[in-house]
Amino acid sequence: MSYYKHHIFFCLNARENGEAACAQHDAQAAFDHCKARVKAAGLAGPGGVRVNKAGCLDRCAGGPVAVVYPEAAWYTFVDKEDIDEIVESHLKDGRVVERLLLPPDVGR
Ligand code: FES
Repeated sequence: MSYYKHHIFFCLNARENGEAACAQHDAQAAFDHCKARVKAAGLAGPGGVRVNKAGCLDRCAGGPVAVVYPEAAWYTFVDKEDIDEIVESHLKDGRVVERLLLPPDVGR
């Protein structure tokens, strides 16, 4: 039994040199929105869901990215509706949101 049922990490990495980085895609706003939604839904905490910031996850070309464990489901997203769907479907009900999965060959 894992400590959290689902653990989601958002890359919030920024780069000054113009290379692709998730911070350019409003990753912070997505992280904040996810954290608020998880809390409001009563999902946060041990046995539930943990939402964490992360540095570069090395899949920058698909940014913004987030990954959910233990499924190792890698997501890319566009807006708050996408985050809502990840919260409702995956973090709450355990159903991976197939349409938002990052293609497996996307790297840095
Ligand atoms: S900057 Fe987000 S995965 Fe690298």
